[in-house]
Amino acid sequence: MKIVATDRVGKEHVVEGRDGWSVMEILRDAGLPIAAECGGACACATCHVYVEDGWYEKLSPPSDAEVDMLDMALAVEPGRSRLSCQIVCADELDGIKVTVAPE
Ligand code: FES
Repeated sequence: MKIVATDRVGKEHVVEGRDGWSVMEILRDAGLPIAAECGGACACATCHVYVEDGWYEKLSPPSDAEVDMLDMALAVEPGRSRLSCQIVCADELDGIKVTVAPE
């Protein structure tokens, strides 16, 4: 599956996801500016992304832990903000569009 990711200067990157990996891991390994300070433990919010173009509704709802982390994150946009470490790559997400949130 492919992930279409826009970085903080508006440049679009198309990166290949891997089944079972988190979107955070894929974007970070592709060199996008995802700090992911907690390593994907849903405890830092430095993997915050905006999910674009109707893809937000296609994701499973955020866990309570993710909602709590997003409550503390900056520039959160309801209906758009997710933690990319909590989005797991799967075929049905082929083409998902995300934008890296501001630091
Ligand atoms: S990497 Fe820390 S919350 Fe996602």
